[in-house]
Amino acid sequence: MPNEQVSKITDDSFLHDVIQGLSGKTKTLPCKYFYDERGSVLFDAICELPEYYPTRTELKIMKDNASAIGSSLGKGVLLIEFGSGSSLKTRILLDNLVNPVAYIPVDISEEHLNRSASSLAESYPKLVILPVCADFTEKFSIPETEPADKTVIYFPGSTIGNFEENEAKLLLNRWRRLCVNGGGLLIGIDLIKDPKILEAAYNDEQGVTADFNLNILDRINKELGANFKTTNFTHRAHWDTDKSRVEMHLVSNCQQTALIDGHQITLEEGETIHTESSHKYTFKSFAEIASSANFKSKHVWIDENSWFGVYFLEAV
Ligand code: AVI
Repeated sequence: MPNEQVSKITDDSFLHDVIQGLSGKTKTLPCKYFYDERGSVLFDAICELPEYYPTRTELKIMKDNASAIGSSLGKGVLLIEFGSGSSLKTRILLDNLVNPVAYIPVDISEEHLNRSASSLAESYPKLVILPVCADFTEKFSIPETEPADKTVIYFPGSTIGNFEENEAKLLLNRWRRLCVNGGGLLIGIDLIKDPKILEAAYNDEQGVTADFNLNILDRINKELGANFKTTNFTHRAHWDTDKSRVEMHLVSNCQQTALIDGHQITLEEGETIHTESSHKYTFKSFAEIASSANFKSKHVWIDENSWFGVYFLEAV
């Protein structure tokens, strides 16, 4: 692969985060741990599901407005994508950028990142691609590149919704400092809609989202030597109107215990592990988050149902 520069995650915080999350009164697991190799493949399968409208809708917005989006970003851009996954939507962007200086995909799942970067390198042989395997919520260094006219961060998929409001604001604030030279943030935002549509998106008929949710326990078993019996858990996802979010949980089907590195975790029948929150926004609620991080909305592209928005925010 040309221009390969991969920094491995040297992260022993997985065990710490899992023990901490499962030791409190309400049990939680950080959703970033969904994305091992199998989890990333399952997530790609989710994106293809008939019920999971966000990917399809965002992709259509990108396709319908590709040249306008490219022009807004301008020429000579250094493009950094956080949580790049399979970089599907990025291709539309790359096809419409004039002389991009480099593309830096950042993802937590190494195999997935490298596979996507290789495939992109084949399609864009002249583009400098510098993949970085890292947890983008932590500090890590961005590879050196030729000087760029500006830095643009790409954060599609409404992944921002997987963060609590204060975390989202902190993240955007940190990123704003990367794109002060006239650059900005191109970000996908999932908008509030009929709860039936929202709940169906996280409770698909084929059970792929259930497998994705349960995979986090398999991963803990595999990587931390735990002994969770995944058949003792059921996937549950529901819309919480007050918190404007879909919550995913793993519900314990019985009273049970599991061992993780000598720590005993007990779950009562009906007790849940909260594995993910997926916040949905109004134009107003997202504008508040963006402006608190000193970003100004330069343009927003939406679909015909107003289900999803692609924002270009300028650093101010
Ligand atoms: C990555 N993220 C934006 C997805 C979401 O919709 O919150 C993850 C996901 N969880 C279940 N389905 C998809």
